[in-house]
Amino acid sequence: MTRILGVETSCDETAAAVVEDGRRILSNVVASQIDLHRQYGGVFPEMASRQHILSIMPVIQQAMAEAELDWDDLDAIAVTYGPGLPGSLLVGVNTAKGLAYGRGLPLVGINHIEGHIYANWLIVGDSPQEIVFPSLALVVSGGHTELILMTDHGQYRRLGHTLDDAAGEAFDKVGRLLGLGFPGGPAIERAAQEGNPFAFKLPRAWLKGTYDFSFSGLKTAVLRIVQKYEDKVSSSADSTKNRRIAVSQPPSVIRRLPVADLAASFQASVIDVLVEKTAMAAEEHQARLIMLAGGVAANRLLRQQMAERSTLPVLYPPPALCTDNAAMIAGAGYFRYRVGHRSGWDLDIVSNLKLAEG
Ligand code: KG4
Ligand code: ZN
Repeated sequence: MTRILGVETSCDETAAAVVEDGRRILSNVVASQIDLHRQYGGVFPEMASRQHILSIMPVIQQAMAEAELDWDDLDAIAVTYGPGLPGSLLVGVNTAKGLAYGRGLPLVGINHIEGHIYANWLIVGDSPQEIVFPSLALVVSGGHTELILMTDHGQYRRLGHTLDDAAGEAFDKVGRLLGLGFPGGPAIERAAQEGNPFAFKLPRAWLKGTYDFSFSGLKTAVLRIVQKYEDKVSSSADSTKNRRIAVSQPPSVIRRLPVADLAASFQASVIDVLVEKTAMAAEEHQARLIMLAGGVAANRLLRQQMAERSTLPVLYPPPALCTDNAAMIAGAGYFRYRVGHRSGWDLDIVSNLKLAEG
């Protein structure tokens, strides 16, 4: 039995978890900073790292207590060393290094994107999912949109990625435009339930002949529609022309905006492209399985449409394991640890770390 403590601080969640043999979660603690960042309409990096410093040790202690383990019962510590916000990553990496050194445990540095993929291995309920290779992972989060062909443990080939905004970033920006607050993903999904996905004809960037994605045109199309409503509401030209995308809409605009229809149309546009490209890549590369990963994989419509579109089995973690957590880092850590992967005490953060290039 191999037990690994995972530590994750790449963005705005301070997380620690203990996982056995890469699949069985013994504890999984996430201290979310969402309430802290909401007032800024997005993650404020400096605040995030300061909050990580305050939360990291209590979170790790709680993860150890909930797992009912002693430090001697652990085999290794796995930690996210990239990609992510530098100040945030530093807190996790240095804490993990200090603990591993002090307790005489091996240290395993993990790529955050790899962690998201390995969330699919974590056992939830009674029947563990069996994962076969090659499998195709669609990693969609606030920072990433990548299609990754996985031919074995630790073997990745990137088939495509976003050329501009990540899918989650688009959800967050459009959420702000529609006055739905932060994070936009869950809020748009909720609002879209009451809306008509065909109400607005929004663009879909197919980027034919590639498995790449682009969401900035879609975001701009929503902005234009919002501005049209704004023009109707406001007689002052200044307030309409110079609006910055990051600013939430004033209540007078929001009252008139068909928020539910816009949310549903936007969501459908993002998901159509994600699903179609993933299904096509899976066919071309003869994948035996599709895995969804990352915060946007919590989206029910994405899960549903992916399962309907593909004849392959489609796996996805439960929502709490789609968004950032440390169980996925401990899980990925196990599969690296068991083949002898160890990081040195000079392990440093790599904020733009890649999993694999095309
Ligand atoms: O994986 P994650 O927690 O952090 C990153 O590594 O970025 O993903 C967070 C992202 C946010 O952009 C959030 O809006 C999005 O995932 N998200 C969703 C949903 N839940 C979270 N997007 C669409 N639908 C959801 N239900
Ligand atoms: Zn993430």
